[in-house]
Parts: sequence; structure tokens; C-alpha cells
Amino acid sequence: MAEILAVGEAMEPALALLEGGDIVAIPTETVYGLAGDATNGIGVARIFEAKGRPRFNPLIAHVADMAMAERIAIFDPLSRKLALAFWPGPLTLVLPQRPGNGIHPLVTAGLDTIALRMPRGFGGDLIARLGRPLAAPSANSSGKISATTAQAVAADLGARIKLVVDGGATPVGLESTIVKAEGERLRLLRPGGIAAGEIEAAIGMDLLRRGAAGVEAPGMLASHYAPGAAVRLNAGTVGEDEALLAFGNHRAEGWQHAAAFLNLSTTGDLREAASNLFAYMQDLDRSGACTIAVEKIPFDGLGEAINDRLSRAAAPRDNTEPTT
Ligand code: TXA
Ligand code: MG
Repeated sequence: MAEILAVGEAMEPALALLEGGDIVAIPTETVYGLAGDATNGIGVARIFEAKGRPRFNPLIAHVADMAMAERIAIFDPLSRKLALAFWPGPLTLVLPQRPGNGIHPLVTAGLDTIALRMPRGFGGDLIARLGRPLAAPSANSSGKISATTAQAVAADLGARIKLVVDGGATPVGLESTIVKAEGERLRLLRPGGIAAGEIEAAIGMDLLRRGAAGVEAPGMLASHYAPGAAVRLNAGTVGEDEALLAFGNHRAEGWQHAAAFLNLSTTGDLREAASNLFAYMQDLDRSGACTIAVEKIPFDGLGEAINDRLSRAAAPRDNTEPTT
């Protein structure tokens, strides 16, 4: 069972876990977050594993200050204005990533944009001490509502994590408002803790919005992640012009002739495989092979999300599907 520690005594244990690539539930002003080092792929994979998410949707990277934010993303003037007006606070900005920012690709599910937020209180202090951004979705298992107390986090995820930092009930109680820069305008992707009207007043213009459907399905469009190469799943053989994405130690027939070869995890560790997935798909795509053959990957644990993402890559569609 997870240990629950008050914010006054949790800093060092939380840091130790994060330094070791483990995850911690932390209070923020909106809801509790399930945090891992955003530069550590194993830590980020553990987040998805603990939440039991059937797919990898992109996570928010939480920063301690503006300098850290500017190292990670490229700010346009409007987004910078909002950051200065509302950070730290319940506002998340989706921005282009700065190349070489060290953010693990599993955080952004391979997108070239990133969602950034500067939280108030313990979370901000923890990130400053760690010196690295924290990836943190809401601390609830997939399909459940976000937790606003440490007790709710422990009741839901306690068997799967080691530490819940107790900062009392979260003051805002619902998730951050998400806004995305689109050319000279900003689009509301998710209503949340800061009213859209407050944001519109700060920038002196209306936010773009989705139609009647309301919230966009951010980052979940298949078109957001479609490699140039075709993708062939459950490959038992490899053609000469195909790249091979392998898993475990039982090779597909003809693997020696693969145009390019990477193994997601030689030991068959799904956590390691998840942390390598996006980078390896991109590398194999860059190899120029016209098809990426992917060996069979089991569906247990993180395997479900890995297979979900691979099947989107194999059958690119451009429909919109809501996130969970
Ligand atoms: O208040 C909050 O925002 C909380 C606390 C813990 O900070 N976090 C939270 O995270 O609600 P999560 O993972 O439950 O929701 C993050 C949302 C998802 O809808 C995701 O699709 C979207 O942010 N998102 C993340 N990166 C994105 C990107 N690059 N483009 C568009 N949407 C993105
Ligand atoms: Mg959530």
C-alpha cells in the first residue's frame, strides 16, 4: 500500500523516488497528479501502467519556472502573455516543442507539440528541487474521475504506487484549462479551472472553440501519428525491403535481412517497450524502409496501449475520437 506523507515531510522521499525513475502522487491546485520525471522513459511508462490506460494519450509536462518552460517549448507572444498572467495556476498551454529539449517522446505520444503547465504549491517546489519537468496526468485509474484528496488517490491507486503526498483537498477541484496556439489565435481545447472569459479578457480576443461537440480530442487523432512507412502488425516474417520492430528474444523469420532493426525490449519487458515505442518507430521510419514490420506484442499490462498505438499507426484514419 502507498504511504501517505504530509507535504512537510514528503519532499525528500518524493525526490528519491523520482530520481530512481519511480512515480509519486502529488497535490496541485487543480487535482492530484501522478508524477514521473518527464525525461525518464521508464518513469513515464510507469504512469501509464499505474493508471491502467488502454492507450498512450499525451501528458502535461509541469514546470517550476518560466526559464524551464522556455527550454522545453517555443512560446508565441500570446501564449507568453497568458503564462505571465496565469502561472503558476490552472492553465495549460499547448506549444511547439523546442528540439533537443530532453522530454521523453512517451510524454507527448510522439507529437511535436507539448502541453505545459506551472502548478502552484508542493508540485512547483518539487520540480524546482528535481531540476527537471514532471509529467503528470490526473491521479486516477483510467475511466475514473480525478482525485482531489490524498485519501481518494490512495483508495484508487494505493496498491500500485509507493507514495501519496498529502496536501489536503485541492483548492480548484477540476483540471486545468487547456489552450493551444494556432497561428495568431488561441484555441480552447479543454475548459477547466480558469474560465475562458478570463483568458479572453487577458488577451483581448475571443478563443477559437470546437463546434457543438465541445472539447477537442487532443492528440488522439490518428493523423497526429502516422509514420511515412506502412506498418504491418504481428509480423512472423520479414521482407527484404522491410524494417523490423522486434520484441523479446524470439525473432521473426528473415530478420537478418531487415532493412533496419530495433528491439523494443530484448527481455520482453513491456515497460521498457513502451518507453522505446515512439522513438523507435520514428527511427525506423527515418531509415527509409517502405514498411515497418512489427513483431507480435502481448496485450497484458502496457501491451494494450502499445498495441492500440501501433494499430493506429498501421491503419491511419482521420476521425476524431474522444480521449478518456
Ligand atoms: O489540472 C490538470 O491539468 C491535471 C493536473 C495533474 O495538472 N492534469 C491533467 O492531466 O488533467 P490529464 O493527463 O488527465 O489531461 C491532459 C490533457 C489530455 O486531454 C491530453 O490529451 C491533453 O492534455 N494534451 C496533452 N498534450 C497535448 C498536446 N500536445 N496537444 C493537445 N492536447 C494535449
Ligand atoms: Mg485525467
